[in-house]
Amino acid sequence: MAKPAPQFTCTACGAVHKKWAGRCDACGAWNSIVEEAPLSAGPAARSLGASRGRAIPLGTLATEEPPPPRTLSGMDEFDRVLGGGLVPASAILVGGDPGIGKSTLLLQATAAFARAGLPCLYISGEEAAAQVRMRAQRLGLADAPVQLGAETNLRDILTTLDTERPALAVIDSIQTMWADNVESAPGSVAQVRAACHELVTFAKRRGTSVILVGHVTKDGQIAGPRVVEHMVDTVLYFEGERGHQFRILRAVKNRFGAADEIGVFEMTGSGLAQVTNPSALFLSERGQSTPGSVVFAGIEGTRPVLTEIQALVAPSTLGTPRRTVVGLDGGRLSTILAVLEARCAIPFAGLDVFLNVAGGMKVSEPAADLAVAAALLSAREDVALPPECVVFGEISLSGALRPVGQTENRLKEARKLGFSTAIAPSRSKIGGGEGMRLREMPDLTAFVGDMFGAG
Ligand code: TYD
Ligand code: MG
Repeated sequence: MAKPAPQFTCTACGAVHKKWAGRCDACGAWNSIVEEAPLSAGPAARSLGASRGRAIPLGTLATEEPPPPRTLSGMDEFDRVLGGGLVPASAILVGGDPGIGKSTLLLQATAAFARAGLPCLYISGEEAAAQVRMRAQRLGLADAPVQLGAETNLRDILTTLDTERPALAVIDSIQTMWADNVESAPGSVAQVRAACHELVTFAKRRGTSVILVGHVTKDGQIAGPRVVEHMVDTVLYFEGERGHQFRILRAVKNRFGAADEIGVFEMTGSGLAQVTNPSALFLSERGQSTPGSVVFAGIEGTRPVLTEIQALVAPSTLGTPRRTVVGLDGGRLSTILAVLEARCAIPFAGLDVFLNVAGGMKVSEPAADLAVAAALLSAREDVALPPECVVFGEISLSGALRPVGQTENRLKEARKLGFSTAIAPSRSKIGGGEGMRLREMPDLTAFVGDMFGAG
């Protein structure tokens, strides 16, 4: 029988290739293709069930043990994103662009955990110990009982962790780690994967929580294989727009809490300051109500956050008009423009459209649809919405408006910030809106008629 051909698999996206290549055609990752033993016919590939293995011990779903206590750092914005404090033996990945403030955030968080009584170890693979100490000094953290090391050799780090047995170990960053049993350069997919695997295994075996810092590539993914995100319990992204002081720590995956939970920080001269009332911050630059500006009452994780959605619509000089979006999904904008044209007969052909979430915030909820439509219409018609008004609701392709979750929280937050009216889909009313006037709209046409006099 012919020997089966070898098979090559991309460790980043899982695509299968006939031969090895330096770059995966499917996902564009470099140096991610590895050879895998093919499933051959023959004795080795006989079904596993054919020979007996060991029976594994089974149990019920009921647990006698109470859930492990979580440790709070006292940095509320950080604790919330973790799902209410640090879970013992958990593995957390914090991703973000270079220079966004990951090292600053984690040094502050580590110091906070250490001050709360947790034995903490901080390993920097990127900066010398003296540099980290200087930063700690500047941030007023020099007295926190954190053990600091500067090292990239994973074997030495694991030995140190095994001796010291800290409750929390921070590794800054996973791309600088080097496992001497893997034959490729630090930062390569194989190295990142091996380092992550070793550290996560260590965390589970020894009960140490590990926080891994990971750099993000231009297209917004943690540099290295996607599998790293699967290996850890929690994936947090630290994001922010250049030129803005706000930084948002967002849980994109969390086995111990809500995904999409956010913590908001502001980068100051003395480190990251917590922002306890993000809505006030995101709306702070908003002056008089202007055409094209709409306040969206959104939900991020478990927390309501108000943001300003801004649109600008101008005659285009281009054959294909511009559609420029910052902080929202471009595809969603196209859909909303198409619905406005098809269901309300309001065309945007020949018009450039610029859409933006103020303050560098990113909004991904479908509930923002109606606010986006309102901003587009307001800009196009040059009519401002009443300043005391917030908007939320999902638009379906038929032009109908769908109620969205957590109406009560949205209304409460709006009221807290001095708004008195909410424009929302019909059937939204579920109480909680004391002091808020709810203007319910069945569909987009009704909304257009109401706000802009029949469009
Ligand atoms: P850093 O934490 O080194 O980023 P990362 O680890 O994500 O690469 O942060 C670097 C930036 O933060 C740097 O441009 C300076 C700025 N910064 C402040 O504005 N204030 C501060 O107190 C600190 C420590 C940094
Ligand atoms: Mg750093």
